[in-house]
Amino acid sequence: MVIANIAQLIIGTADLAAAFLFMYGLKRMSSPVTAPSGIFTAGIGMLVAILASFLYVFDVGTSAKPFLMVNVGLGVAALILGGGVAWWGGKKVAMTQMPQMVALYNGMGGGAAGAIAAVELFGAKSQGTTQLVVTLLGALIGAISLSGSLIAWAKLEGVINKPLRVKGQQIVNLLVLAGTVAIGGYLVYVAQGGAPPILPTPQLIYLFFACALIYGILMTLPIGGADMPVVISIYNAATGLAVGLEGFVLGNPALMIAGMVVGAAGTLLTLLMAQAMNRSVENVLFTNFGGPSKHKQGRIKGSLKPTGAEDAGIFMRYAKSVIIVPGYGLAAAQAQQKLYEFVKLIQAAGVSVKFAIHPVAGRMPGQMDVLLAEAGVPYDLIFQLDGINEEFKTTNVSMGIGANDVVNPAARTDKSSPIFGMPILNADQAKQVYVIKRGEGKGYAGIVNALFYADNCNMVYGDAAAVLAKMIEAVRGLGAKEAA
Ligand code: TAP
Repeated sequence: MVIANIAQLIIGTADLAAAFLFMYGLKRMSSPVTAPSGIFTAGIGMLVAILASFLYVFDVGTSAKPFLMVNVGLGVAALILGGGVAWWGGKKVAMTQMPQMVALYNGMGGGAAGAIAAVELFGAKSQGTTQLVVTLLGALIGAISLSGSLIAWAKLEGVINKPLRVKGQQIVNLLVLAGTVAIGGYLVYVAQGGAPPILPTPQLIYLFFACALIYGILMTLPIGGADMPVVISIYNAATGLAVGLEGFVLGNPALMIAGMVVGAAGTLLTLLMAQAMNRSVENVLFTNFGGPSKHKQGRIKGSLKPTGAEDAGIFMRYAKSVIIVPGYGLAAAQAQQKLYEFVKLIQAAGVSVKFAIHPVAGRMPGQMDVLLAEAGVPYDLIFQLDGINEEFKTTNVSMGIGANDVVNPAARTDKSSPIFGMPILNADQAKQVYVIKRGEGKGYAGIVNALFYADNCNMVYGDAAAVLAKMIEAVRGLGAKEAA
């Protein structure tokens, strides 16, 4: 009895400490300078909560004791297996595959919430109506999040290449969702003794989970692959909610708080991403933006003017000021180290260099910041859209590297453009613009960029890493000539 009380006290304190560490860690993640320690802090919080949960073994009262946790052997095996795979995956994953990894982890979070609910539902423990409703709600959201995230992963990975749309799909989706909710409602009705079940209760529970999983698949299939980061963020919020609900069912404050923090962060992130693309969340979920573009573009004035990497590099070496706009192509080429090497060279020659980051540059939030941090670019050279946009017009050179939509002036001027209204970086306003990309490939929105045809813009064709290597060589060669 004494041991049980002590264990309960330790669990309570540890949960509180974990909740504090989650929130403090999240706060530190708001700046790239403190983000690594923020992630570490939140990770410690998670470890504290996990270790404390092992204390349930000391019989802390039947209501608080999720029965599987009593099996220490299973718990340790799961920790070693899960921790090992995550450690290996985290080390191995390429920067461009981060969204896929996030989708998978998110799906697992939803699956875990669904699994807790399943244990509760199949456990044949008598639950009050509120508890049963909350369990079913968590099960519904967790299962949708699991299957939906897996489809999102398949789309990002290119396993599913096209959005699958059929006529009347929204109605079918609505019917499946309504059916799932109806089965859930019926389960509550039966549990209250309202009627004998038409099917044995376990079969009804299976049906409920099957319908919820199918709904997650149906809901995600029609959405274009390129919209997946926003979709993952929505599922992230959903997973948080499901975990929070199951935390309530188990009476576990750490789960409740962690779930709420994830749910709130996911919701905010979804809204911020939608805002940065000037789209509503509804538009992401129910329209075709991320799929093949139906937008018929008029003829763009001007012409594409290719130039050599060497010429562009030397031009920047003699410029006063350069603003660099990184985009998805920089991550795809893994050219961040080369980029910073080039920047250091021209800085040494007295050029002022800054980096301008668009909130949705790349394929996931913060991807460019992380990429530049990885290359060692000092944070005081990195500016977000609002902090630098006014500076383009007084800058000698802007250089887009694998950046396309985030510098497309059509967002400001062409009302018929799918990206009209999206805030963009005003790279076109610099005196000279260089764009590094491999060819005439379109960006995420599937449209041709008017900037590339502008009088002040030259295209430097090639893989970003190869182009930067040539620029570095050209500027170094210049130094050698000057010294001679
Ligand atoms: P994009 O518009 O997708 O353009 C990337 C460009 O990089 C392409 O035009 C491609 O042209 C080029 N590229 C690809 N591989 C390259 C390589 N190895 N070397 C050089 N260039 C390469 O990228 P962005 O400007 O970063 O814009 C991001 C887009 O994603 C926005 O439309 C945004 O709304 C969307 N989006 C972002 C997020 C987040 S959170 N970041 C979420 C959802 C949607 P080539 O094929 O000709 O090389």
